Amino acid sequence: MSRDILVLYGSYRRDRQGIKLAHWLVDAIDARGDHAELIDAKAVGLPILDQRHSDYPPGEAPAAMAALAVRLENADGFIFVVGEYNGGLQPGLKNLVDHYLPEFAWRPAAIASYSAGPFAGVRSATAWRTTLGAMAMVVTSTPLSLARIGAAFDADGKPTGEDGTRLIRALPRFADDLGWWIDAAKAQRARVGAPF
Ligand SMILES: Cc1cc2nc3c(=O)[nH]c(=O)nc-3n(C[C@H](O)[C@H](O)[C@H](O)COP(=O)(O)O)c2cc1C
Repeated sequence: MSRDILVLYGSYRRDRQGIKLAHWLVDAIDARGDHAELIDAKAVGLPILDQRHSDYPPGEAPAAMAALAVRLENADGFIFVVGEYNGGLQPGLKNLVDHYLPEFAWRPAAIASYSAGPFAGVRSATAWRTTLGAMAMVVTSTPLSLARIGAAFDADGKPTGEDGTRLIRALPRFADDLGWWIDAAKAQRARVGAPF
């Protein structure tokens, strides 16, 4: 059965590069027979965190925040597309994520990291593992890490060059890992629900 996977990305920069990886991942997951959808924090436009979604009385959360809560709750799993700022995570995506907690829980998450340089944002990926793990997500073990993102896609958004080729090669294992955990978590939620 087709899995419903959200691809979350959160750079607000005007010349942001990671959006190319996010779009490619949506298409690549769709092409494998699952359903993927982009959640672009900049487009969602949540304010800097004041109250979490769950802090609002029922029906009083801002419309965009409430709509995203429903979308997150109904997803089978998540892919976080993460860049690296000063050795850590990007504030736009962290701000979006911090608005929610139960909406993410008991589902798996995979991390795709990237950077302008050769290290592919791995320090940010490590920071995200801690955050997502703290939010009751199972974080998959297969990384997808893209170095030199500025030259890794052609004008049509297709991976190109050595780094692009490596990305294409890495995708099946990355997606298989996430798919396995999605199926496992879904079956367990259906069998016994959440543990608490
Ligand atoms: C504020 C800032 C800090 C950055 N820090 C790092 C860093 O620590 N490590 C790294 O590999 N790249 C760093 N970079 C370069 C980013 O990898 C590159 O700009 C990337 O495209 C950022 O993602 P985005 O374009 O989706 O915003 C930094 C860029 C910015 C704007």
